[in-house]
Amino acid sequence: MTYYDKNTIKLCHCHLTSRIKEGYTVIDATSGRGRDTLLLSKLVGDRGKVYAFDIQEEAIESTRQLLEENGRKNVTLILDSHEKMRNYVKEAQCVVFNFGYLPGSDHKIFSHADTSVRAIGEALEVISDDGFVCICSYYGGDTGFEEKEAVMEYLRGLDQMKYTVMMLDFINRKGCPPILYVVEKNRK
Ligand SMILES: C[S@@+](CC[C@H](N)C(=O)[O-])C[C@H]1O[C@@H](n2cnc3c(N)ncnc32)[C@H](O)[C@@H]1O
Repeated sequence: MTYYDKNTIKLCHCHLTSRIKEGYTVIDATSGRGRDTLLLSKLVGDRGKVYAFDIQEEAIESTRQLLEENGRKNVTLILDSHEKMRNYVKEAQCVVFNFGYLPGSDHKIFSHADTSVRAIGEALEVISDDGFVCICSYYGGDTGFEEKEAVMEYLRGLDQMKYTVMMLDFINRKGCPPILYVVEKNRK
């Protein structure tokens, strides 16, 4: 694989595609326009299940439409904050976060450091022993910096005996390219 033409989302999708199996239960914690939800829905197949969260009705509707256009029926859409995911899902093999604001909509509504960190904590509780969490962390302009620092600090502080945390950053790219983290539980 070459990384030259890759961005954070493509790398996240590569990772999801290589690890998610048919029949899995997975969570899209930030459904947005539904592109991640659609990929997850295809990867888990008809025997699997996707739960997709967003706090904006526009995002949920957008995702619903994309799923309908693609004939996908294995997704439950939830208009609620991702920090409450355990109210809806008992266990999942994967949780995906794509932080930031809804593309093409109000940039003033975006994910925040405190809820994002709490939600990652919830995701680590909800994943199975062989589960993992993918996080795309956006920052730039006048948003996201606080969240980026908080997420990184939280992940750096996770007990290395319990979790492995990997980070992928394009350190020679101009601007503020998003960062991809993959967190997984260490198997005993
Ligand atoms: C960058 S977009 C997600 C992109 C999406 N995954 C896609 O494939 O199109 C970020 C989304 O996170 C949502 N969001 C922000 N805070 C949230 C929260 N506390 N719980 C759930 N979703 C949240 C926003 O409403 C926005 O739609």
